Amino acid sequence: MSNIYLEEIDSTNRYAKLNLDKLEDKTIVHAARQTSGHGRLQRAWLDPGGDNLFLTFVLKPSSSFSNIFSNITQYLSVKLCMLLEEYGLEPQIKWPNDVLLNGRKVAGILSETVMLGNTFKGLVLGIGVNLNAAPEALECIDKPAAALNLECGHDIVLSSFRDRLVETFFADYDNFLNTGFKSIRDYYLKHACFLNKEICVRLFNENKSGIAKSVTEDGELVLVSDNKEVVLTIGDIL
Ligand code: BTN
Repeated sequence: MSNIYLEEIDSTNRYAKLNLDKLEDKTIVHAARQTSGHGRLQRAWLDPGGDNLFLTFVLKPSSSFSNIFSNITQYLSVKLCMLLEEYGLEPQIKWPNDVLLNGRKVAGILSETVMLGNTFKGLVLGIGVNLNAAPEALECIDKPAAALNLECGHDIVLSSFRDRLVETFFADYDNFLNTGFKSIRDYYLKHACFLNKEICVRLFNENKSGIAKSVTEDGELVLVSDNKEVVLTIGDIL
């Protein structure tokens, strides 16, 4: 396992993708500042200033793509929640992988699959966590946002948080690769904030409303809409 530390980069995910061939499995790319972070569904991920986490896991688990890899963001959201509980917090998960504190998003997770033609090269799994931010900086973010320092009432030591996150992530990683979403489903459901609620999900080019009924064994969202069950694999709860 090797670590790459960058003072400033446009995006740790982009850096990892560009350098994927040179980076070995389980490399961590960590940047102090990120100038052009990106998120799911073409969103931007803003650096609110202060010591926040911008980190990408470079993962090369096999030479071919497995459907289990689609759940890696949910796996990371669970591992992050476990760490936040160590800080005395009560995190919740919004499907598929947003982590919330008191209803506000504290972290964003983005996995990108790298292919060369039909060949699977690896995954870059990025995470941004607001660790130390001023309230005014959070107000510049388009959705309600949280930061750990404001929830805990004290500054957060970035290096300790990062090291513990990496440790927690790899502790059950092999088990996750063998078992998939099933290995985290119980914990995920206990921390889900959206179940049995009327929600609206943004899909690529439409919105779908309904009651969030459950999450399947494969991590998909089951929505009851117009008395019909719809199973969603990708989307964003609005
Ligand atoms: C989202 O909530 O839409 C996902 C945000 C993911 C942000 C992280 S920060 C580190 C890594 N580099 C990026 O450009 N994005 C991810």
